[in-house]
Amino acid sequence: MARIAETTKHRLHVIRSLPALRRVIGEFHKRRRTIALVPTMGALHAGHLELVRLAQRRADRVVVSIFVNPTQFAPQEDLSTYPRTFAADLAALRKLKTDCVWAPSVETMYPDGFATRVVPDGPAKAGLEDAFRPHFFAGVATVVAKLLIQCDPDVAIFGEKDYQQLKVVTRLAGDLALRCRIIGAPVVREADGLARSSRNRYLSASERAVAPTLYRVLSDCARGIRDGKPIVDMLDAGRIAISNAGFALDYLEARNAETLSPLDAPVDEPIRLLVAARLGKTRLIDNLAV
Ligand code: PAJ
Repeated sequence: MARIAETTKHRLHVIRSLPALRRVIGEFHKRRRTIALVPTMGALHAGHLELVRLAQRRADRVVVSIFVNPTQFAPQEDLSTYPRTFAADLAALRKLKTDCVWAPSVETMYPDGFATRVVPDGPAKAGLEDAFRPHFFAGVATVVAKLLIQCDPDVAIFGEKDYQQLKVVTRLAGDLALRCRIIGAPVVREADGLARSSRNRYLSASERAVAPTLYRVLSDCARGIRDGKPIVDMLDAGRIAISNAGFALDYLEARNAETLSPLDAPVDEPIRLLVAARLGKTRLIDNLAV
């Protein structure tokens, strides 16, 4: 009976102001409930929802933030057209019995006169995403630091889909001495291997058909490297395959899986393969462990 009563009573709190957030977070702390935060920019898909499920296993209460963060978009990027599907996002989260959605306005996150930024170094300067989106990680680090301070979670879940971002955020939480533990979640893929992404909806039918090339190339490279083939040869072949499929390649790299530094020779360290490439107007990223 008690369980049924609890199920029917479930209500998703949608929080839009800082005082309301502080009340809810304070109440969770007072009741000694552990909190997991899942930061997102909305347009939720199966990848995001998997993070929410992981969060539910790791803490008593789950807060999902939905905030399309303007400071991580460059002027020519897709901020104005970034998909916004708030009602559908809430419906999906309600179905999962998420506890809270933190959905601040731009004015709440960046009030007039806002003048403080978190500018990460280390993994944020690895020469991967940062080489093509130089503004990106300062925007991410600033908003993630704010979200972690605002929601004061015990754990925060980030997807390995954005592998460099996961490393930047892990470093940030340690460097700023936040009490929160950062947990990485595996990449969720379509049946044909394409990593789920809010931006996949931009792909035309013909682009969608070639998009899984990225995962195929990552898998081939990983297999070749595990079989002892020279890493440079595997990467060269992968770069050609990606370009031949019609992508404009930004990078395909093999890096130290922890620091994202270039590999030493001879290679005796965990390796992560990372790729970014543009298909028409859509930029796709992916990565895979060797
Ligand atoms: P967004 O792109 O909405 O992604 C939110 C979280 O979902 C990130 O941690 C991302 O890595 C994860 N994610 C996305 N697609 C995934 C997939 N296919 N499998 C597993 N995880 C996946 O990343 C951001 O938002 C923003 O930069 C944010 C961290 C919220 C800061 O604004």
